[in-house]
Amino acid sequence: MKLGVNIDHVSTLREARGTFYPDPVAGALSAESAGCDSIVAHLREDRRHIKEKDIIGIKEAIKIPFNLEMSVNKNIVSFAQEICPYQATLVPERRQELTTEGGIDLLKNYKKVNNAIIKLKKSGIKVSLFIDPLIVQIKAAKDLGADIIEINTGRFSELKTARSLEAEIRKIKRAAVFSKKQGFFVAAGHGLDYENVKEVSRIMEIEELNIGHSIISRSVFIGIVPAVIEMFSLIGK
Ligand code: PXP
Repeated sequence: MKLGVNIDHVSTLREARGTFYPDPVAGALSAESAGCDSIVAHLREDRRHIKEKDIIGIKEAIKIPFNLEMSVNKNIVSFAQEICPYQATLVPERRQELTTEGGIDLLKNYKKVNNAIIKLKKSGIKVSLFIDPLIVQIKAAKDLGADIIEINTGRFSELKTARSLEAEIRKIKRAAVFSKKQGFFVAAGHGLDYENVKEVSRIMEIEELNIGHSIISRSVFIGIVPAVIEMFSLIGK
């Protein structure tokens, strides 16, 4: 199992006071030194946490792959083409949301996603699509020529009853198996924490987890390196 550490919320803390610290570049380097497999950052359209200069700084500083989370907004796509991260993960974005609220609907946004994928691939960037665990979405991702599927575990992370959790895990497992059969590299993420991550990490077809908020939150108390290592022990890395 690989672990991608999302560094956004180091910047959230910085933006809370408009200071220069804490620096997400330093955060990314700490996560890398702990042994994670990639660094993830989301350049949101409203720039509420990560800014362009952070993306440039992280890309220059780290040696492991950089996964830029982004919407299909034309300006952001152009920026990605300039920066050329190892991977771009396309996510839906709504201004007022606290965080990404669901997977991107590839059927509704087919044309926009297709245009973004063509541009990103032309620049040699691998494309991942963040989608809900639905077979129709995976089929659309195949038609669009994506390289990677990231299954949204956000709904799973919000469920409370054993029955609903079991049903959602089955759905995620089915989506992971189907994605793998289609030849995708299969990732999962959103809302995963030190309590719920084991259930998801047991799904053999999932090869990478992308985790941010819970790791950065834990880091406040024990530091980024121990927080990342603690997550490794739970996901069998
Ligand atoms: N994967 C995707 C596609 C995301 O949008 C996010 C949130 O930025 C994450 C993973 C990480 O989610 P969390 O911060 O809840 O761990």
